[in-house]
Amino acid sequence: MLADEASPGLAIVILAVFLAFRYLLYPTLLSPLARIPNAHWSSPISRLWILGIRYTHRENRILHALHRSLGPVIRVGPNELSINGIDGVRTVYQGGFEKPDWYSVFDNYGVPCMFSTRPAAEHSARKRSISNIYSKSYIQSSQSASAQGREILYGRLLPKLLDSTSKMQVPHGIDMYSVFMATTMDFISAYIFGIENGTNLLHDEALRDHLLEHYKARSDYSVFDQELPRLTWLCRKIGIPFWTVDAANKELGEWCMRLCDVTKKASIMNNPSATEACDEPVVWNALVGGLAKETKTSGSSSVLYPTALTNVDLSVASELFDHVLAGQETVGITLSYISWRLSQSMDLQADLRAELLSLAPNMRLDRDESASMPDPKQLDALPLLHAVVMETLRLHAPIPGYQPRETPELPCQIGPYLVPGGVRIAASAYSLHRDEKVFPEPEVWNPTRWLSSDGDGEERKKRNRQFWAFSSGGRMCVGSNFAMHEMKLIIAAIYSNFTSHIVDDAGMSEQSDGYTGRPVHERLFLRFERVV
Ligand code: HEM
Ligand SMILES: *[C@@H]1O[C@H](CO)[C@@H](O)[C@H](O)[C@H]1NC(C)=O
Ligand SMILES: *[C@@H]1O[C@H](CO)[C@@H](O)[C@H](O)[C@H]1NC(C)=O
Repeated sequence: MLADEASPGLAIVILAVFLAFRYLLYPTLLSPLARIPNAHWSSPISRLWILGIRYTHRENRILHALHRSLGPVIRVGPNELSINGIDGVRTVYQGGFEKPDWYSVFDNYGVPCMFSTRPAAEHSARKRSISNIYSKSYIQSSQSASAQGREILYGRLLPKLLDSTSKMQVPHGIDMYSVFMATTMDFISAYIFGIENGTNLLHDEALRDHLLEHYKARSDYSVFDQELPRLTWLCRKIGIPFWTVDAANKELGEWCMRLCDVTKKASIMNNPSATEACDEPVVWNALVGGLAKETKTSGSSSVLYPTALTNVDLSVASELFDHVLAGQETVGITLSYISWRLSQSMDLQADLRAELLSLAPNMRLDRDESASMPDPKQLDALPLLHAVVMETLRLHAPIPGYQPRETPELPCQIGPYLVPGGVRIAASAYSLHRDEKVFPEPEVWNPTRWLSSDGDGEERKKRNRQFWAFSSGGRMCVGSNFAMHEMKLIIAAIYSNFTSHIVDDAGMSEQSDGYTGRPVHERLFLRFERVV
């Protein structure tokens, strides 16, 4: 009798002791992570604090401030670290730590793409098949890229700006945030699908607004899927949908699938040798060719992308959906910040224009409004243009946020700490780009910091090492060369013939705090004047 009465009580006590040990004592005192400074007193025992600042869009700023007082490695959750030292970054990102499931929201049509793939072997197989056409040398010598750029700049963008100088709209200016988003979508989709089968959002403003709205919904609400995947799974299961993300994904997915279908049809119908340069679907060709080669060499038993080999169409669409997303908003945000900063200094615009007109041929419009494309190598080598782009990517990084990775099975050394496997660990461009030892007065936009040439180049090496807008290591941005070339080309085309002036820049000085950082109001009204 006595024993029977005592046992439930005893069980409760044992359970309580176990829980206290497992969830309080162990994580705060005994875990190998216990030696690491805590971002918040509750960090060792709960994710609530970090989820809270993430949800309220304060993570980048708060963690950056905490790193300044607590050092380069801090614990932000029971199983999660934030780092901001360049040595830790090298260990994690150049060391090939794999991505966690956090990236699976970027699986499209239920199929992984390169960006969302977790295992390193699968990832590098895919990267091998497409990195060539995104390399600097390929882009600089590509007839297709050049023909597409010419059409978009001189056939679409500059006429639009010319128009804005002559019409009634002059006092209101023109919303360059929207124009740049259209330009960048037109650029990347032309390179992927060919100019005919890509978008023309510079003309089609209704489709532009529609797509941009869906992209916004997607990035505003995917945080639930990323941070609380089980909870969101359960919500969907019991019928609580995440309307905005799900609807946006469906719509954008169908739109991209149509672009893929049209390109596939054209590739079957057209004789490739008779296709004009600007119609070449460069990325599509490389990807489809790569998958075909993979099937040939590994047959159907391939462990690499088993779905890719059985459903080529879905895999191609998933990959290209991601490029269209990654290649558009990042570049559009950066261009908006470049033109905003330039619009604040007529002197800087004059210096930049002098540099641009030194190109031979340059991008000045002649009397019949036609113009030349510059030599890509010459364009790339212009020091002031390069400095303006780099400084904008530093202070206004379009992906300022944390890029999570997972520590590998065997414990690894991060700074002075030995970190066990399976721990989420991340660095951010926001924090790395505000290290005043490398970038004095980090909050000041000052392109000349990229021009100063010290004797032994030590400063320059330090700057380039710390520059992290495109990440680093094996998962670094595959589109960085495309983005740099495209941005330089667009800025050169505009500022060779126009000056820009601010009409309404409300919200530009505040960039949203999250994985991607947009100007909070997502608009920038500028007025253009033709230079004579
Ligand atoms: C200014 C423009 C751009 C910036 C700042 C940027 C930044 C980044 C960053 C930070 C990453 C790594 C993200 C992470 O691991 O969480 C990344 C990856 C990637 N970016 Fe970009 N990007 C830009 C333009 C482009 C363009 C034009 C493309 C066109 C295809 C592109 C395609 C990709 C892809 C496919 C990945 C995944 C690479 C991999 O997993 O191996 N990006 N980008
Ligand atoms: C796709 O592009 C090809 C040229 O490469 C063109 O012949 C075809 O008409 C285009 N398809 C559509 C639907 O625009
Ligand atoms: C812009 O184009 C006009 C010709 O249409 C030309 O006269 C002018 O010099 C150009 N401005 C610059 C800065 O190239």
